Amino acid sequence: MAKTKTVFFCKNCGNESPKWVGKCPACSEWNTYVEETVVTGKTGKTANHNFAGVKPKPLQVQKIVSEKENRIDLQSTELNRVLGGGLVSGSLVLIGGEPGIGKSTLMLQVALALENMKILYVSGEESQQQIKMRADRIGIRNENCYILTETDTHEIIAQFEKLQPEMIIIDSIQTLQSEQIDATAGSISQIRGCAAEMNKLAKTTLVPVILIGHITKDGSIAGPKVLEHMVDTVIQFEGDRHYGFRILRAVKNRFGSAAELGIFEMQSNGLREVTNPSEILLSQREEDVSGVAISAMVEGLRPMLIETQALVSTAAYGTPQRSGTGFDLRRLNMLLAVLEKRSGFKLSAKDVFLNIAGGLRVDDPAIDMAVIAAILSSSEDIAISSKFAFAAEVGLSGEIRAVNRIEARISEADKLGFEKIYISKYNAKGLEQSKFNIDIVPVATVNQLFGVLFG
Ligand code: TYD
Ligand code: MG
Repeated sequence: MAKTKTVFFCKNCGNESPKWVGKCPACSEWNTYVEETVVTGKTGKTANHNFAGVKPKPLQVQKIVSEKENRIDLQSTELNRVLGGGLVSGSLVLIGGEPGIGKSTLMLQVALALENMKILYVSGEESQQQIKMRADRIGIRNENCYILTETDTHEIIAQFEKLQPEMIIIDSIQTLQSEQIDATAGSISQIRGCAAEMNKLAKTTLVPVILIGHITKDGSIAGPKVLEHMVDTVIQFEGDRHYGFRILRAVKNRFGSAAELGIFEMQSNGLREVTNPSEILLSQREEDVSGVAISAMVEGLRPMLIETQALVSTAAYGTPQRSGTGFDLRRLNMLLAVLEKRSGFKLSAKDVFLNIAGGLRVDDPAIDMAVIAAILSSSEDIAISSKFAFAAEVGLSGEIRAVNRIEARISEADKLGFEKIYISKYNAKGLEQSKFNIDIVPVATVNQLFGVLFG
């Protein structure tokens, strides 16, 4: 017999509680609990992963036959890379992003590009007409791409069995509804239940399922983090609305590295892959201006050169402003404190603005030296040649620290015709200058950097 009961879920982490609590004991967030009705007895079985009906037994690890996972080439270098070399059969992938970033466009484009695969694109958000209009805009003709507008999971599974597609795309998980669960679409128990049903479908039929999910403002995939635990791969689609660039980032990947990144550009006919990011991330400049320094950074396994721009000016108000676009503000404040304390630059009465080109957000610590160089360049009003690149972390005592994958960074700058690259002296050990055309300049401290650049 199915019984209904009321439970409370944390919107942030999905933690369940029989009564309302102000602070979530699991994730320590305040005021995140919402009330939902769940039907017990009926839903209990949905997340049962014992698919083949065989009871699993413990096996010695050597005796387990390793099978190479079967990967589907999605005809997109960037997307394949982020997935770790293609989409794994039977995997459940969640692609999250803010509304309007281009998730539906990306997935429809993938569905249309795979001409030899039967694909079912299920939309609970748009009509077939709207999707057709988007498909016309993208402009690829494909006879194997089926569009279904449906939100009921059982109906979707029924259509799946009839059509027998080789891949399913669900746009979006928040619109799905299972009749087994007595809660509104988009509620935590619905999302959890429907994702479990889709997971079961993927695992039993070995057909990969891609779920599109909306992200809430704080960056978590709409409310329940539980979804991230349930799927094999979580990919985030992000970017600044004001720029055309879109970054695809693997947040979790059971079948590959979670550090991979893909870059796209939104155009009038869909998303274009950006296979050589350095060329677009470096702005075309007629002449060298002060406050600009180029960093040789690495995202995932891919080196790329990117411009950092700084503007240092006398503060108009009592409290100087510090702002960083695409760069962690705390880190910027830390670097400014290092310049002030270790090198005696008087920056505390100055406004400092920092901007990373292309609307990109950079976490790679190797960008530190370029940030410092850009700030010093703006403050001294002396331009740094656009043929110079930087790759090193800056420590609290003003020391220039080594970073990983230094050879890849140097090679990329070399390939793009840069003349000099400034790195940590600890990275320079064991590097053969004769292998590169670019001049490798080892630096030990922030003071020394200032000396070689402007001294
Ligand atoms: P969409 O895929 O609907 O975003 P999401 O599914 O993540 O909510 O696309 C959003 C934006 O992309 C929309 O503002 C229009 C724009 N767009 C283009 O610029 N070019 C195109 O070819 C398409 C299809 C969309
Ligand atoms: Mg959409």
